[in-house]
Amino acid sequence: MTHAIAIIPQPAALKALPGRFIIDAQTALLASAGAEAAAAWLKADLLRVAGFDLPAQAQPGSGVIEFRLDSSLGRLGSEGYRLEVTPTRVLARAAQAPGLFYALQSLKQLLPAEIFSPERVPGVDWSLPCVEIEDLPRFGWRGAMLDSARHFMPKDFVLKFIDLMALHKLNSFHWHLTDDQGWRIEIKKYPRLTEVGAWRKQTVVGRFYDTLEGVIYDGTPHGGFYTQEEIREVVAYARARHINVVPEVEMPGHAQAAIAAYPQLGNLAEPLEVSQVWGVHEHVFNVEESTLNFLTDVLDEVMELFPGAFIHVGGDECPKKEWKESPAAQARRQALGLADEHELQSYFIRHMDRHLSGRGRRLIGWDEILEGGLAENAAVMSWRGEEGGIAAANAGHDVVMAPYHSTYLDYYQSADESKEPLAIGGLIPLEKVYEYEPIPEAIDPLKQHHVLGTQGQLWTEYIATPEACEYMAYPRLCALAETAWTPPAQKDYDAFHRRLQAHLRRLDLLEVNYRKPD
Ligand code: ACM
Repeated sequence: MTHAIAIIPQPAALKALPGRFIIDAQTALLASAGAEAAAAWLKADLLRVAGFDLPAQAQPGSGVIEFRLDSSLGRLGSEGYRLEVTPTRVLARAAQAPGLFYALQSLKQLLPAEIFSPERVPGVDWSLPCVEIEDLPRFGWRGAMLDSARHFMPKDFVLKFIDLMALHKLNSFHWHLTDDQGWRIEIKKYPRLTEVGAWRKQTVVGRFYDTLEGVIYDGTPHGGFYTQEEIREVVAYARARHINVVPEVEMPGHAQAAIAAYPQLGNLAEPLEVSQVWGVHEHVFNVEESTLNFLTDVLDEVMELFPGAFIHVGGDECPKKEWKESPAAQARRQALGLADEHELQSYFIRHMDRHLSGRGRRLIGWDEILEGGLAENAAVMSWRGEEGGIAAANAGHDVVMAPYHSTYLDYYQSADESKEPLAIGGLIPLEKVYEYEPIPEAIDPLKQHHVLGTQGQLWTEYIATPEACEYMAYPRLCALAETAWTPPAQKDYDAFHRRLQAHLRRLDLLEVNYRKPD
């Protein structure tokens, strides 16, 4: 059986050539020093689906699949690669290991979809079309965010989510770990964060409109958290797939679960519960020195667990009501010589920025961190639109474009809401994600390099299960991956849609509960 070439994301340059390379039990595998991992993945896949235990070979030659680290390909960067398939050999080359990993992803998408089967599939023609591919990503930050706070997502699903990211050459897993409705990361110094903060008594049913009137609850406790050992496992799993994990610990807003665990972190005398409803909450961290110290202690444990450069501190949606009304917060503001509560927020974030920068890390936060002045080293994730990203990039800060209007995967996928599961609102069909352009024209051409890339956001207020996550994430993350990887000149929605038909067969075999595209 032959099949059209359908790689997602579309490579930067691909030339189809006549002929095919046939894989059988005698096909040999060759890996240069440093290229063993990519060869080992392919070997394991072919053993599982075809029963071929490909022998290793020391020399290039006929009937060989070779993975080679090749320093002469440095111009393709750490993630670029060349993949040449002729009737007699397959040669994947890259300057660095991530490039070889991406060559492997493309190679697998040249094979029959059954390469993605969880088990042996008899009667498959294990061949691939001859091609010449030279490929590298447009952006270095190709992300997906998963909200494990609103609904706890089991570790095994997180691993599957990471596998699917790798398939699409996404490389940045933003893990939203704390929020009003749950604290999901074990912190050894402060055990109540998970003993108390990881559990809520019940959850609001249906759409919630920021008023408690007439609200119905499900009466079912919900919760869970990741131990530090589990976090280490996830980080290592991602790293093996060349994915960096960016943890997010929210502050000063979206803090109610933490305040429920440690009331001294809040602004009120009376205790709070872990929130059971959605929306922007007015219960935020206070601005006492002791609270800042508590949070830098938390960040110290976070940095131990997550070796990547960026630590996300949230910073979004922090209502200033409690700070305005709290005599203690006002006294702090005056003692610090700050004009208003926006400057208090900025003071808070700058404190965290200094702490992270002093330890060789970089702070990233939602675009509200621009309010009251942005910390020197901070990077901005632009979600309220593109304005925050534009302002930050033009001011010389790195940005990740994550605007709600094009990258929020919790929004509806089609206009007929009656045919869709209940969602938070909005409408972002597949094509809208695909057509999103991460570099707005309003960014000075000399500052465009500050756009690190883009990512999709999977907020889970209305997405309670792994199956529901997959339904909302796919195939829209396929489109986002192409936006993040493929040069604009190679992008074409109709061609993507055609390739997607073949790609869905892969997602079927990977048991992904995607939404069927229109
Ligand atoms: C956000 O959606 N509040 C970042």
